[in-house]
Amino acid sequence: MQKILVARSIFPDVIERLKQHFEVDWNDGDVLSADELKRRLADKDGALTAGDMIGADVLAAAPRLRVVANMAVGYNNFDMAAFNAANVLGTNTPDVLNESTADFGWALMMAAARRIAESEHWLRAGHWNKWSYDGFLGSDLYGSTLGVIGMGRIGQALARRAQGFNMRVVYHNRSRVAPQIESELNAEYLSKEDLLRRADHVVLVLPYTKESHHTIGAAELALMKPTATLTNIARGGIVDDAALAEALRDKRIAAAGLDVFEGEPKLHPALLTVPNVVLTPHIASATETTRRAMANLAADNLIAGLGAGPRAGQPPNPINPDVIGKART
Ligand code: GLV
Repeated sequence: MQKILVARSIFPDVIERLKQHFEVDWNDGDVLSADELKRRLADKDGALTAGDMIGADVLAAAPRLRVVANMAVGYNNFDMAAFNAANVLGTNTPDVLNESTADFGWALMMAAARRIAESEHWLRAGHWNKWSYDGFLGSDLYGSTLGVIGMGRIGQALARRAQGFNMRVVYHNRSRVAPQIESELNAEYLSKEDLLRRADHVVLVLPYTKESHHTIGAAELALMKPTATLTNIARGGIVDDAALAEALRDKRIAAAGLDVFEGEPKLHPALLTVPNVVLTPHIASATETTRRAMANLAADNLIAGLGAGPRAGQPPNPINPDVIGKART
């Protein structure tokens, strides 16, 4: 029987599914250190990960490893050049999380714009003793301009929701989306700089790559309106968190909503000192239905990628399909 490592705690019934095909080594505890991950992968044919860093060193320590299934749509934790060099297949879990993640983007954006978390903390601290006309004034979403940076599947799901709020949609992406999608979403393509100047609410939904590192830093924040909000549901590292904390402290932008952080689960300490930011622990896809769908899709990819189950050899979401069928190097 082939051997796999499930590197993270996941739904026990998904572990049971995997046990029908493989001998399963399940890490149901804390995140594995790089050394521990290498040790546990040394005799494995496959792995199910969720954000664990898999680079050339890990692959070298795991000479039998042929498939790594990430339980996430983003796979910046995979060094794909190393995967390709070693003929290791990487897979991810796109699509099943689009709507939940878009919902959450709206939740964060609205919480930031209408100061929900900030006012709740104030209320819990016992400060509320009268209604006041200027208490926690925020900025409107209805009728405003939404700026989406990263118009992939989740960006489009976000933009679709904007129609119910009578918002104009402007977007920036590596390349323009098809004219039909632009017209369906009533979305106008802008340069990043023009988008930042025009949008009332900016949401980041782009993948993290070397090129997207600090897409939003001090210079970009300086272009935004003082009444604008910034929401990051993409990846830590896309925003320069130190520059953002400073902009929030100085009210150079009104508020932010952040679900992801550079170096998470650690946060830049300055973010914890500014009240006008809503902070959540990387939960944009976290509904029961969606997380189950992601876990099962990761399992489908691993099972099929390792040549088992009804789709043997044809995993649904290969990132580098060219390596399928090639011998491990
Ligand atoms: C979550 O962050 C994902 O990439 O799916």
